[in-house]
Amino acid sequence: MKHKCNLSLWDSDEPVPRAELLKGVAGAHGLLCLLSDKIDTEVLDAAGPNLKVISTLSVGFDHLAIDEIKKRGIRVGYTPDVLTDATAELTVALLLATARRLPEGVEEVKNGGWSTWKPLWLCGYGLSDSTVGVIGLGRIGLAIARRLKPFGVKRLLYTGRQPKPQAQEVDGEYVPLDSLLSESDFVIVSCSLTPKTQGLCDQTFFSKMKKTAVFINTSRGAVVNQEDLFKALSSGQIAAAGLDVTSPEPLPTDHPLLTLKNCVVLPHIGSATYSTRGVMAELSANNLLAGLTGSEMPSELKL
Ligand code: NDP
Ligand code: DGY
Repeated sequence: MKHKCNLSLWDSDEPVPRAELLKGVAGAHGLLCLLSDKIDTEVLDAAGPNLKVISTLSVGFDHLAIDEIKKRGIRVGYTPDVLTDATAELTVALLLATARRLPEGVEEVKNGGWSTWKPLWLCGYGLSDSTVGVIGLGRIGLAIARRLKPFGVKRLLYTGRQPKPQAQEVDGEYVPLDSLLSESDFVIVSCSLTPKTQGLCDQTFFSKMKKTAVFINTSRGAVVNQEDLFKALSSGQIAAAGLDVTSPEPLPTDHPLLTLKNCVVLPHIGSATYSTRGVMAELSANNLLAGLTGSEMPSELKL
């Protein structure tokens, strides 16, 4: 059976301006949004009572006012699983780039800083025989752990709300956060952003890490207190950090973190492969259509 719907499309790779969103959503039955669109009470009110489905082109849903959406009986579609491999791969790339100082090395080649081979020049930290700590061993956290183990990681620690049976696959040891921080050579954040994880990585957090440890965040920028991270990196409290996500996004080009050689910042490209973005787009369109027709969604968020 064919279903018809009228489509109002913001036909650009740039995010829709807020005023356009508020205007365009009026009376809509469905909304397909990006993680950069804050879907709060104002947007829901602007949409009005017709709205029955929101489909987001992301697995993260911290940009959605979930309590209010639930109260209004609106269904939510999202894109888990299909981006797990791409995001885990990028996390490993960022970890290696940060720990082995790749951006610094590339820069030295270009600016003439490469004089000759020197025994201690541009030394970093390797994964072999290391202890890796994963905060949030969910879909992406586990996929990161799977990829890191073959590098010769000795211990894989993880923390979260409860132990995970699937951790066995990577010999994961469930430990309290404090033990993870004090024992890990690499601390990787792959949890979702919630009121509990907001600002989790602060001065106290960094002070518990080894001075030689590398911090990686590919979850959401707001999990990190960036002022505290700057202090930890510039004072030698920790060795280096790699961030794919920041707060705000984009990070202003004059932000202090960007002055540090031991901080590698990427522009939120975890899931950015052509094929992954294609599958995400298809899945979010199908979620939207299922919500509009009242049928089962391929990936519905349980509210
Ligand atoms: P999952 O829901 O599978 O995993 C989230 C994990 O976060 C769970 O293991 C959960 O643990 C953990 N968690 C929740 N609360 C806490 C807490 N208080 N302390 C520690 N851990 C906690 O989601 P995905 O793995 O699919 O995605 C994770 C996040 O990655 C997304 O929410 C998104 O923000 C981000 N992301 C970023 C991308 C990028 O481009 N950089 C791409 C895709 C996703 P438990 O199960 O024990 O509750
Ligand atoms: C997500 O899906 O939550 C990412 O941040 C972008 O793919």
